[in-house]
Amino acid sequence: MECSRVFTFLCFSLSFLVLGTYELQSSQTQVLSQLRRQLEYPKQLDLWLNTSTDFCYLSTPQVNITCQNNLVIGIIIFGDKRKRVSNFNGFRVLDGTLSPNFSMDSLAATLSRLNGLKSLSLVSLGIWGSIPDKIHRLQSLEYLDLSWNFLYGSIPQTLSRIGQLQILKLDGNFLNGTFPDWFDSFSNFTSLSLRNNLLSGSLPSSIQRITTLTALVLSNNAISGMLPDLSTLLSLQWLDLSKNKFDSELPIMPKGLKTILLNNNSFSGRIPQQYGQLNQLQQIDLSFNVLEGTPPAGLFSLPNIISLNLASNMLSGSLPVRLNCGAKLGSVDISNNKLRGLLPSCLSSVIKTRGIKYGGNCLSIDLSHQHPETYCVEPHDEKKKSEGKNLGVLIGIISGVIVIMGLLAYGFLVLCRQYCPRRTSEQHLLHNSVQDNSVTGFTSELLTNARFISDAAKLRSQGTPAHRLFSLNELKAATNNFDKSTLMGEGSTGKMYKGRLENGTQVAIRCLTVSKRFTIRNLKLRLDLLAKLQHPHLVCLLGHCIQNEGKDESGVNNVYLLYEYVPNGNYQARLLETNPEKVLKWSDRLAILIGVAKAVHFLHTGIIPGFFNNRLKANNILLNEHWMGKLSDYGLSIVVQEIDEHKAEGGLKAWHIKSFEDDVYSFGLILLRSLIGPSFSARNEAFLVNEMVSLGTPDGQRRIVDPSIHTSCSQESLSIIISIANKCISQEFSTRPSFEDVLWNLQYAAQVQSTADGEQRS
Ligand SMILES: *[C@@H]1O[C@H](CO)[C@@H](O)[C@H](O)[C@H]1NC(C)=O
Ligand SMILES: *[C@@H]1O[C@H](CO)[C@@H](O)[C@H](O)[C@H]1NC(C)=O
Ligand SMILES: *[C@@H]1O[C@H](CO)[C@@H](O)[C@H](O)[C@H]1NC(C)=O
Ligand SMILES: *[C@@H]1O[C@H](CO)[C@@H](O)[C@H](O)[C@H]1NC(C)=O
Ligand SMILES: *[C@@H]1O[C@H](CO)[C@@H](O)[C@H](O)[C@H]1NC(C)=O
Ligand SMILES: *[C@@H]1O[C@H](CO)[C@@H](O)[C@H](O)[C@H]1NC(C)=O
Repeated sequence: MECSRVFTFLCFSLSFLVLGTYELQSSQTQVLSQLRRQLEYPKQLDLWLNTSTDFCYLSTPQVNITCQNNLVIGIIIFGDKRKRVSNFNGFRVLDGTLSPNFSMDSLAATLSRLNGLKSLSLVSLGIWGSIPDKIHRLQSLEYLDLSWNFLYGSIPQTLSRIGQLQILKLDGNFLNGTFPDWFDSFSNFTSLSLRNNLLSGSLPSSIQRITTLTALVLSNNAISGMLPDLSTLLSLQWLDLSKNKFDSELPIMPKGLKTILLNNNSFSGRIPQQYGQLNQLQQIDLSFNVLEGTPPAGLFSLPNIISLNLASNMLSGSLPVRLNCGAKLGSVDISNNKLRGLLPSCLSSVIKTRGIKYGGNCLSIDLSHQHPETYCVEPHDEKKKSEGKNLGVLIGIISGVIVIMGLLAYGFLVLCRQYCPRRTSEQHLLHNSVQDNSVTGFTSELLTNARFISDAAKLRSQGTPAHRLFSLNELKAATNNFDKSTLMGEGSTGKMYKGRLENGTQVAIRCLTVSKRFTIRNLKLRLDLLAKLQHPHLVCLLGHCIQNEGKDESGVNNVYLLYEYVPNGNYQARLLETNPEKVLKWSDRLAILIGVAKAVHFLHTGIIPGFFNNRLKANNILLNEHWMGKLSDYGLSIVVQEIDEHKAEGGLKAWHIKSFEDDVYSFGLILLRSLIGPSFSARNEAFLVNEMVSLGTPDGQRRIVDPSIHTSCSQESLSIIISIANKCISQEFSTRPSFEDVLWNLQYAAQVQSTADGEQRS
């Protein structure tokens, strides 16, 4: 205390000595006082209290005013409002933002009176609002730093009129909109840092013309699309585009780069050989992308390279055993790829000065941390490429075949009309009753032409019992005349009974009321299609029984569907389990989810037409005696669609809600339910979607994620699931991943988990 007083006194007297030469114009002093008031008297500026006439050269690490010729030319104020929120909507954040009285407009107006101001840093001061158009009145600015505040909206184009601007830092704000395409209008712009904002859209090609640029830092935004060729930026030394959504191939890089951070994007393709010639390069991070091929050997031997991270990609092939490593190379991470062969000797762990990570590959070394050879064998890249080429041909062939089949069918129909006029064709029947069934996308043609495109499905279906017709009497016998005691539950589609057939097989019987508009024959076609959906992770449909009292073609009352009985209850119930011995471990949950995702993937793509709306819910996932997940209630939309249409008579709105909640979305919710503890499980969907935000932070995770998961999961595996769940429940339909993506991520998470489990055991 005493000490600091003496210090203040010394400073005070010192500044008094210098004061004579640097006395500020009084208007400038007024502006500074006003600035202090507008920033609502941050305590860092308390030291101005005692120096009412001169602020220059009275600096602390937080506050530094620079003056020249009686004018303020530089202001640096670092506040302590460091509180971050994940989402800012323009309303007050307690202990974060300045009060509602604060106005960004008046701040700009105040500062514009400092007509010599070249350098301005107002950091962590709780400044909120959108950057005003007036900002260009700070005409002489060369350096502007408004990082870690609460600025939102887009970056105004008027900023481009500050011709001398060289450095712009707006990190850690809430700026959104697309990345501006006018940065090339400055004549001497050297450094741009906009990390931790909400910028979206793609990076405009105008960026190639900012040839004076030395640093470009845009990490942690949502910038997507193609990364333009930056090789014209000959002064560029620092490039950080990590944690965005770039999904192009990697472009050539300018020669002078010292740091390249492109991790956590979706960059694909191969790493250009040219990267092996970036002689200035010290650090490169390409981890967490989907890069393929063998990494260029030159990258390891660059003269200045210190840190090289290629982890978690799909890199394949093998590195040359006699690889040269640069003399300065201190850290290498090639883990979680599909690399094979021997580990080059300069990367072996014998060399203690190098930190090297290579787990999760198929290298023939230290087998405990490597995958079996089969994991890496898949020639992913070759297959993809030829797939791309062949796709066109394939589509051509398929459409050709369809056209020919269509012509044949038409010819057959014409013949049939002539020679068997009495028999109504099935096509005709379907037409009669299902004219307006476009809701589920099952036109009559599709129904009759439905067929599998997956051979695997065909093979699997051979092992399962044949679908057969049951009589009502058989069902009555099985359920003791539908006795109440056999009732298992009642869902939106009807009652569910448990029964035992004559041969002892236990079955679950679902009773559906279907529209009278279906003729029996039409209904049978639909049920046959349903019976064709055979997959190890779908509850097997054993048969059906159609009850029609009128005995005529129309007038179906009830349809009973007989399913295999799955004994171990449903997934939702297991998630609610609190008995520590029965709680599902993280790896068990992943296994169940993977099974169900496979089944849904099959429903989407294994059959034409695909079944896209399958009422995915955690309690529709049943568990068999081996704790294998099996999906029930799938595909029912083709038999009960009429009922649904009836319910959706609310009009457009009802239909919108339905289309919004597709399978991917519903599965995203199931993923969320798999994470949260029983105490949150009863909460509704809106709650879950809201909590997604807090799942992004370690604190939020600790609060929401089931404690038993925390003890049985690896953080990385958890993050993968959180991230994919987040994508699934995106409000934007088009940004949701495909089920193939979902499945891939689940399997990836399971891999990571099993590696972690293995490490723990060993
Ligand atoms: C200002 O001066 C008064 C006495 O003159 C002293 O008590 C106070 O601590 C000073 N404040 C600061 C922030 O230096
Ligand atoms: C204050 O700023 C000037 C110019 O930017 C700089 O030269 C000086 O070192 C700074 N003083 C402190 C204490 O940071
Ligand atoms: C905001 O302004 C009003 C009126 O000028 C004033 O009464 C109030 O104290 C101010 N609030 C803060 C937090 O400064
Ligand atoms: C940007 O943020 C503002 C305020 O938060 C919001 O009104 C606007 O819709 C957002 N714009 C975009 C393109 O997201
Ligand atoms: C551009 O900025 C650099 C470094 O700040 C400076 O040395 C140079 O004189 C400036 N050039 C022009 C034309 O303003
Ligand atoms: C990149 O993503 C992975 C997995 O999503 C995550 O574990 C890692 O922390 C991320 N890296 C950075 C620098 O955020």
